This record gives sequence, C-alpha cells and structure tokens, in this order.
Amino acid sequence: MIVPAITPNATYDFADDVRAGLSQRGQKELPSKYLYDDVGSALFEVISHLPEYGLTRADERLLRRHADEIVNRVAGPVAIVELGSGSGKKTRSLLESFSRRQPTFYYPIEISRAALDMCERELRDIDAISIVGFEREYLDGLQEVAAYRKRGQHLLVLFLGSTIGNFDRAAGVKFLAEVRRILEPGDSLLLGTDLEKSSAQLLRAYDDELGVTAAFNLNLLARVNRELDADFDLRQFAHVARINRETRSVEMHLQSKRRQSVSIPAAEVVVEFLEGETIWTESSHKYSMEEIVETAGQAGFRCETQWIDEQWPFAENLLIAE
Ligand SMILES: C[S@@+](CC[C@H](N)C(=O)[O-])C[C@H]1O[C@@H](n2cnc3c(N)ncnc32)[C@H](O)[C@@H]1O
Repeated sequence: MIVPAITPNATYDFADDVRAGLSQRGQKELPSKYLYDDVGSALFEVISHLPEYGLTRADERLLRRHADEIVNRVAGPVAIVELGSGSGKKTRSLLESFSRRQPTFYYPIEISRAALDMCERELRDIDAISIVGFEREYLDGLQEVAAYRKRGQHLLVLFLGSTIGNFDRAAGVKFLAEVRRILEPGDSLLLGTDLEKSSAQLLRAYDDELGVTAAFNLNLLARVNRELDADFDLRQFAHVARINRETRSVEMHLQSKRRQSVSIPAAEVVVEFLEGETIWTESSHKYSMEEIVETAGQAGFRCETQWIDEQWPFAENLLIAE
C-alpha cells in the first residue's frame, strides 16, 4: 500500500556544486549523488543485472536467505527506513518477512524521484506494508522519519548495496555517527558492504563490456547539458575505472580526450580541460570484515551479526545502536 506523502524536492544546488567541483584547483570532481537523475537511475538498474556486477545479486541472496533471521533479531514494533532505496527490489524479501509479523511502515529516502517511483511500484503489492517515500537527502529524510516515531517503536535503517563505499573511510565513519545520533539505543542498522577482491574483478565490475557503466558515468555530463545548458561534447570524454590501492577503492573518472573548453551558462562558468585531464565522479571503497566491526564501533554501533555471500565477497552487517 502506498500512503501519499508530501515530498518536496531534496534541497541541493546542482549549479553551485558543478561550478565548485569543476573550478577547483587540481583534480576536478562532481559529487556522485548527481549520477542519479531519471536516466542515471534507469542505467543503474541495468548495471545491477550485468554479469560483471555481482554485488547486487550477492546482497539480494543474503537478504533472501536471512530475512527471517534478521526479522527475529530486530525487536518490534518497528518502522523501516531505507537510505537510497533505488528500485527497492532487493528489499522485498525483508519486507515480506516483516509483513508476516505485523503491519509495518516502510520509508524509502531517495534523492532521485525516478528511483522513488520505481521503488513504490515495485513494492506496493506487499500486504501489511505501508510505503511513504521521501524525496530527500539521506540524513534529512532519516531525521524527519525519526521525528514522527511512535512511543516504543524501534527504527531499522537499511543502507544496502555498499552505498557506504561511496564515502571515503573517514567520511563513512562520520556519516554512520550522524545516523547513530538520530537513532535511539536499541535501534538497528543493516549495512551492506562490498568486500575486498581482486583488481581484475573490480575493474570488470566498474567497466563492463557492454558499456552500461560508461553510459551511466557519461550521463552526468549529459545531465549538466540538459539542466544547465552546457555544451559538453560527450564523444570527447571517456569513462575510466581505476584502482586506487592507497584508499582501497575503485574510482570512476571522465577523461577529456583532447584539450577543450566547455561552457556551462546556468552555472556561470567556462571550464578548460587539458588532454587526458579527468573529472572524478565516484569512488567505491572496499572493506574487510574486521574493519566493518571497527568502523561500526567508532560510530556508536555494536556489530551483532555479519553474513557473507559465498559467490561474491560481500557482507550484510546487522549493527545495533548503543
Ligand atoms: C548505489 S545506488 C544503490 C541503490 C540500492 N540501495 C541498491 O543497493 O541497489 C545509490 C542510491 O542512493 C541514492 N542517493 C545517492 N545519493 C543520495 C543522497 N545524498 N541522499 C539520498 N539518496 C541518495 C541514489 O539515487 C541511488 O538510488
């Protein structure tokens, strides 16, 4: 069931962020949250089906296999909040398990209206689950849901699919600590984390043969053209995936194929690119099992259980707010 909610747009300033990221000295960058407009969210959904990108299937297998156990470990009554739900497909098994226990509210929080719509369509048929979507940034949405919690109700926050990996390690701890500050002792966080694996496997996952990840990345420039009237020539930029051994992450960049200048009128800026220069658009940090326990502890959570997929190194971690 979908409960209509007032969901004004998430507040951010695309033009300011584009100007700042492309005018800064040294490495140019664009925040990864802007990868997800209508086209980006649709392309991410395709990525999750690619044979090279085993992450989503691993996450889904773990959720399906352990849904009942997760439900048993989370004391009820509970409201479920999902940060960056995407299409919500993977969350189905968990919601079905909760719905067998008691009627439950599910609050997907998404910066992308398109992803939120997909999620509501995907999950609305589940009995005894009421969906209230929030088109918000993660913490704004969580804060709002927490403000309306009923007396005695626990919150279960889902942060799946290794989205935590988009933060660098220090920012990841800070983000989890902010989540913890909004929660109360005894609330839970189910955190998906992609584990370290070979460079070859990672590069395949972030630079697939079909070129879907390349299109997902290049769509960010197309979005700047669409929304800010820019004149990026997409054929003059190439998608690049790189391993950064120091930060234990895979980075996505857009590399200029030649010296060129790009005008972005709505951001009031003209940007000069050297041949070979890149815009850094996303990082995906990979974790070790021990590090997750440590990171959770630094943010004020106790790691209660970790489930690991046997086919693709990926962990689902149930953390309890202390
Ligand atoms: C990597 S995708 C993961 C989607 C889904 N959780 C999964 O595991 O397949 C990240 C999702 O978070 C959303 N997102 C990114 N940054 C966000 C932000 N700052 N606030 C809210 N949602 C955000 C994106 O629109 C996208 O749907």
